[in-house]
Amino acid sequence: MTFELVESEQMINGSLIKLVKKSLSIKPLIDRLEQEPSLWKENTWRQDYVVKLDRPISPQQDTEAIMFRWAPENTIESVRDSLNITIHSNLSNIKEVQPLIVECLIACGAVECGRVFIAKLKPGGTVIPHSDYGMYADHFERFHLVLTSEDGNRFFVQDTNGWCESYYMKPGEFFWFNHKENHWAINQSQKPRMHMIIDCVAPTYRRERVI
Ligand SMILES: [Fe+2]
Repeated sequence: MTFELVESEQMINGSLIKLVKKSLSIKPLIDRLEQEPSLWKENTWRQDYVVKLDRPISPQQDTEAIMFRWAPENTIESVRDSLNITIHSNLSNIKEVQPLIVECLIACGAVECGRVFIAKLKPGGTVIPHSDYGMYADHFERFHLVLTSEDGNRFFVQDTNGWCESYYMKPGEFFWFNHKENHWAINQSQKPRMHMIIDCVAPTYRRERVI
């Protein structure tokens, strides 16, 4: 396996992971989330779902999520294939999230916004290697805005030729990655790692992946 380990002081520009922007103002949102612990229990579908043949456990089993823009239904058919978006009351209630979403959409040249949610990976947890498939994943690009992440976190993307890019994504950094290739994450720190996941149609980045 080949790894490209890139120092975080550099603007990374790999073929599978690209830093879009850094130093975003994330603290107001983090402070607000600390006041709203019950939000993590509202929708547990993402960590609970099972597809019996190819995914006997959810790759996201060590995570919890807060939804802002999500699929119409919590079913594999809806999450995998629906391009429709249901806007959750969290989007208006958690006002600190709105300017960050707008800043990220502008930064990546988005022309359409898909789902937006925050995923929290528990200390010692893993996102199991997988690739995203279905009509939804084909239509949208996937970006991550790092909210919290300590040393010991790492994100990996590997293509079908075995080329692998790995990065410690720091708080305030906003990344694109090729979600159609195999990807996974580890949190070998003592604290939860929180990423805001923003899906959008971003033609500049769509050209970076061929599938
Ligand atoms: Fe994924």
